[in-house]
Amino acid sequence: MNKKSFFLLGCLVFWTLFPAMAGTSLAASAKDNYRTYCAQCHGIQGNGRGVNIRDMSVQPRNHTDASYMSQRSDEDLAKADREGGLAIDKSVLMPPWGDTLSPAEIKDMVQYLRTLCHCTYNAQ
Ligand code: HEC
Repeated sequence: MNKKSFFLLGCLVFWTLFPAMAGTSLAASAKDNYRTYCAQCHGIQGNGRGVNIRDMSVQPRNHTDASYMSQRSDEDLAKADREGGLAIDKSVLMPPWGDTLSPAEIKDMVQYLRTLCHCTYNAQ
């Protein structure tokens, strides 16, 4: 095998194996999506203290508040993410994300919100 084909073979192996090594699928992780789309209002830590909040008439939800978040079902949270605040009788300042995030990403996002509050839905 000459040098050039050895190099090309190397590239091919790398190209094929790298995504597997990195453990990736193409979908962005929920944490990345949260930091890109949610953190400006909800804060990087999810505590509702993002950079946008100073003049917002309704403050973003504190996603680390377990007592509130455990009152909301996964479907409530998914619906808020997908259709925005208005769809769940909350503020229009919470935008709808259904055109930006796929259904799978929204499902992952709900799981990510559960890691922020360290809580599950406590149906009463
Ligand atoms: C422009 C600011 C803004 C951005 C960006 C934003 N939110 Fe919100 N969000 C809000 C506000 C304000 C509320 C509170 C609405 C209320 O209480 O009426 C809220 C509420 C929520 C709630 C609580 C709904 C409930 O049941 O009370 C969830 C869940 C939520 N946001 C998820 C997200 C996710 C996930 C993202 C990113 C994909 C996001 N938000 C991006 C402003 C924002």
